[in-house]
Amino acid sequence: MAVFGASLRGIVGHWRIAGHWRIAGHWRIVGRRGAPPRRFARLRAAVTQPRAFLGRSGSQRIRAGAWVLWSKARQGNQQPLSDAFIDNEKGNLMPDERPLGSQGLTASSQGLGCMGMSEFYGAPDEAESIATIHRALDLGVTLLDTADMYGQGANERLVGAAIRDRRDEVVLATKFGIVRDPDNPTARGVNGSPEYVRTAADRSLSRLGTDRIDLYYQHRVDPDVPIEETVGAMAELIQQGKVRYLGLSEASAETVRRAHSVHPITALQTEYSLWTRDVEASVLPTLRELDIALVAYSPLGRGFLTGSLRQQSDIPPGDFRATNPRFQGGNLQANLAPLAVVERLAIANHVTTAQIALAWVHAQGQDIFPIPGTKRRSYLEQNVAAASVKLTSDELQQLSAAFPPGATAGDRYEDMSRIEA
Ligand SMILES: NC(=O)c1ccc[n+]([C@@H]2O[C@H](COP(=O)([O-])OP(=O)(O)OC[C@H]3O[C@@H](n4cnc5c(N)ncnc54)[C@H](OP(=O)(O)O)[C@@H]3O)[C@@H](O)[C@H]2O)c1
Repeated sequence: MAVFGASLRGIVGHWRIAGHWRIAGHWRIVGRRGAPPRRFARLRAAVTQPRAFLGRSGSQRIRAGAWVLWSKARQGNQQPLSDAFIDNEKGNLMPDERPLGSQGLTASSQGLGCMGMSEFYGAPDEAESIATIHRALDLGVTLLDTADMYGQGANERLVGAAIRDRRDEVVLATKFGIVRDPDNPTARGVNGSPEYVRTAADRSLSRLGTDRIDLYYQHRVDPDVPIEETVGAMAELIQQGKVRYLGLSEASAETVRRAHSVHPITALQTEYSLWTRDVEASVLPTLRELDIALVAYSPLGRGFLTGSLRQQSDIPPGDFRATNPRFQGGNLQANLAPLAVVERLAIANHVTTAQIALAWVHAQGQDIFPIPGTKRRSYLEQNVAAASVKLTSDELQQLSAAFPPGATAGDRYEDMSRIEA
């Protein structure tokens, strides 16, 4: 049935977002910064809150319908975005706060990865990055992820500066163990010796401008130092009040088990997304047995699962992805085939491709905390809203079937030797 040239189903539809009935038809310019214009807030509320809308006057209904049409008229080459984005402005769809692991830490169900604010993904923009961190805190994202190696300390300094006046709102997570060479930005070493653990923690505390790290991860397992020694030194940091909870990153199930027997491990941080499902085989079952949370890094496939990187020319020069195997020629082309399934479901659900990819990660369990990375408020708002996008079991199955474990073309890193199987 046509109403003002749009189908009735297009205007009033059952959206599986936060369990509410919603009016469909919101559109937003992709990449526009900041929140939607406030002058439309009341009208938008009428559109996005059907119960309130249905209880209002006829003129308000007409204005709401007009807003839908106006929004659609602005569409052009814009991309549809869910009402969840708009609700964020009102603070309705904050990610829930829940236990992260079983040692007493709680955090938002979705975090913010801060790495790309300083290095690896295009040119940094410090002012927008700090605004993004503040917006994350405003939206209830409490888990902030950094590491001493990101920007060779610059990322910890940036995060520290951003949270200086809001430290108590943050679950601050950082990492040690990947050693950089200031003269060769691509060189990497690993150090898990107890002496290095102590030095690295003090340096991170200083850069972050805080007296405590909430979640301290070993970034990569050092094959030359028994994990028991590294974790023993990390546990001493807890006794000294410098660290609250411990984590590992990219550790095997066996290493996690050994570490956990020395001191309880709260979280394992590992890459997990539609195109990286390696953890499902043995790591995730072990984490569940031991009540350890999985913090899912690169849940957007380093941007690939947003649909914005389709050819090598989409990758800026000097970007980490320019040499990452998965983004090279034939591999990149091969990986686009399953991405089409994500894009089709995004259109069907009136959300973005990124939101579908994140919703799939959220649907894999309450013990999984994705930390999508961005240096822009516009992406952050979209990603936070994804925590409320509910996919049907059939849709989840379609996604899982399109990306079977191990099927992605290309390794995750050029050098896989530091990744424990
Ligand atoms: N433990 C480890 O070894 C490890 C390794 C890698 C990452 N991490 C952590 O995990 C965090 C997240 O991973 P990641 O940053 O590598 O990958 P990601 O979250 O999968 O993707 C980040 C990329 O996607 C883009 N993006 C984000 N939201 C988007 C949206 N809604 N629409 C379109 N594009 C969007 C970002 O663009 P912009 O940058 O332009 O905003 C960036 O290029 C990092 O920040 C870091 O804290 C840990």
